[in-house]
Amino acid sequence: MPVVQPRGLARYFEEHPGVEIVIFAGKGGLGKTTSSSCLAWYTSQVLKKRTLLFSTDPQASLSDIWERDFYGKGEVELLPNLYVVEIDADRRVADYQASVKQKIKDMYGLDEIPREIDEYIDSTSAEPAMYESATYDAMAELVAARTYDIYIFDMPPFGHGVRMVAMADILSRWVEKITEARSKVAEYDAIAATLRGEKGHEDEVMAELVDIRNKIKSFTDLITDARRTAFFMVLIPEMMAILDTERALAMFESLGMQMTGLVVNQVYPADLLAREGTSQYLRNRVEMQQRYLKVIAEKFRDRVKTVVPMLTREPKGAELIEQAAAHLMNCQISLAY
Ligand SMILES: Nc1ncnc2c1ncn2[C@@H]1O[C@H](COP(=O)(O)OP(=O)(O)OP(=O)(O)O)[C@@H](O)[C@H]1O
Ligand SMILES: [Mg+2]
Repeated sequence: MPVVQPRGLARYFEEHPGVEIVIFAGKGGLGKTTSSSCLAWYTSQVLKKRTLLFSTDPQASLSDIWERDFYGKGEVELLPNLYVVEIDADRRVADYQASVKQKIKDMYGLDEIPREIDEYIDSTSAEPAMYESATYDAMAELVAARTYDIYIFDMPPFGHGVRMVAMADILSRWVEKITEARSKVAEYDAIAATLRGEKGHEDEVMAELVDIRNKIKSFTDLITDARRTAFFMVLIPEMMAILDTERALAMFESLGMQMTGLVVNQVYPADLLAREGTSQYLRNRVEMQQRYLKVIAEKFRDRVKTVVPMLTREPKGAELIEQAAAHLMNCQISLAY
């Protein structure tokens, strides 16, 4: 019987010391926040890298798992070398809208924004794209500051993590277009202004657009560079999660990218089947998982980087996170198929 023996994430980071960004994606509730927190514990406490752990989850799950309030508080030092940011994306969208309104006022010298425009801008907050854009923006901004050795991004439920990569491409193209149009206008404006003997008023807007474009461009370059960014997808031995993983892998491929690896989480120890005291109820679950683990091994093979057991308690607080991190980093479970 062929066997897949995942080597654990510690090995991966040993062999890829240049990785600066780690993104955990996957369906809801399977272990993204737990895995991100475990890895952040390891990179900061064991590898001694200055680590930033980031999330935009409106459920404030980093606050929940670390039993401390980070929500909307900026960069908070949690342990030596470990910093956490849990952004309030709604507030960020609101701030962004306010700044767009202010710019329109400044540009056109208005005291009030025309009502339709005002309503239009307000209505954009209902779009998921705005939320994603705010997340993306916040990530790009943190990374551009270059104050950490490694950035670990805990993504909200599936979609965002993977779609974001595609979005980076769309976003930068969009900014590219506006920047082009603006620079054309700026040329005329500059000529006219020079003739009038004053500074072009578009210069400021242009400079900001170029700045945003550069930031997005370098962030996109970074997250599409397999030497510097690792994408992990978390799944469990169940059909829906397997299908979802296949879709994500296909999406990555269509973008010309590689998924770094898979984390199989919440796996019941197979030896429960050999133990006498195991209830029939639990036996059924273990057997079901064993069937799906075979499917996972067969379909995904070496893409599986680690298998984490179902722990008897939810990993919460630094001590339990440290224990859970040991399983994530050093895999003890192999998968036969
Ligand atoms: N290996 C494990 N053993 C036991 N419990 C686990 C394990 N991994 C995760 N959990 C628990 O499962 C729940 C979901 O985990 P987590 O919050 O990490 O998932 P998530 O993917 O971040 O979810 P969401 O998509 O809602 O953000 C949590 O209560 C967590 O404590
Ligand atoms: Mg989460």
